[in-house]
Amino acid sequence: MRYPLAMRLIHWFTAIMFIPMLAGGYFWLRTMASSDPFKLDALMYHMAIGVFLVTLTLIRLVVRLRVAHPENTGLALWVHRALYACVFLMPVSGFTMVFSARLNDIVFARNGAPLPEDMSMITGHFWHGATALTLTVLIALHIAGAFKDRVTIRRMI
Ligand code: HEM
Ligand code: HEM
Repeated sequence: MRYPLAMRLIHWFTAIMFIPMLAGGYFWLRTMASSDPFKLDALMYHMAIGVFLVTLTLIRLVVRLRVAHPENTGLALWVHRALYACVFLMPVSGFTMVFSARLNDIVFARNGAPLPEDMSMITGHFWHGATALTLTVLIALHIAGAFKDRVTIRRMI
């Protein structure tokens, strides 16, 4: 049995998008100084795409609850649950940063206020980075598991 088309489409679209979101966060956003003229745009795209991906994952979960789908057991089941949990924790810590440093006014409304000089001091930053790291490890485990046998990969293509 294969996953329903809606779940497959959302899975692959989000799978492709999560990898640049993680790499962009670690290697681009994090290393960019708050005074960098591109930082506001970079943060704007990061936050908007992040919310979009989480919404798509939520839609996938709703489809999952309503339509027949393959069942998982053992480690795969727990990795999938942990993946869903991390995906939903990303915006929780993300919005903690947004509200505690008023990033919505700075980034989206462009009110002219400067970004905090040290972004890593914003409440929620540590948890956002820690969840992203956990997600990276889980995705690596997930990819390794998915390629273990052909039956598993066929269910998602
Ligand atoms: C799809 C989910 C998301 C992923 C995979 C992701 C990933 C990342 C990563 C890897 C970092 C760098 C962490 C570090 O410095 O250790 C980061 C930074 C950040 N993210 Fe996200 N993020 C996501 C969603 C969001 C959302 C929804 C928001 C806000 C609404 C957000 C706001 C931020 C902010 C404000 C930073 C700090 C940038 C800086 O240090 O200059 N993220 N994100
Ligand atoms: C190239 C990367 C990826 C590959 C090859 C891949 C492959 C697969 C395969 C084959 C399945 C079906 C597993 C089964 O039926 O036992 C699956 C399910 C799943 N994948 Fe991925 N995946 C990738 C990336 C991702 C990413 C980035 C995420 C989330 C951040 C993710 C989250 C999930 C979840 C939650 C399921 C379980 C679906 C469900 O039962 O609701 N995958 N993946």
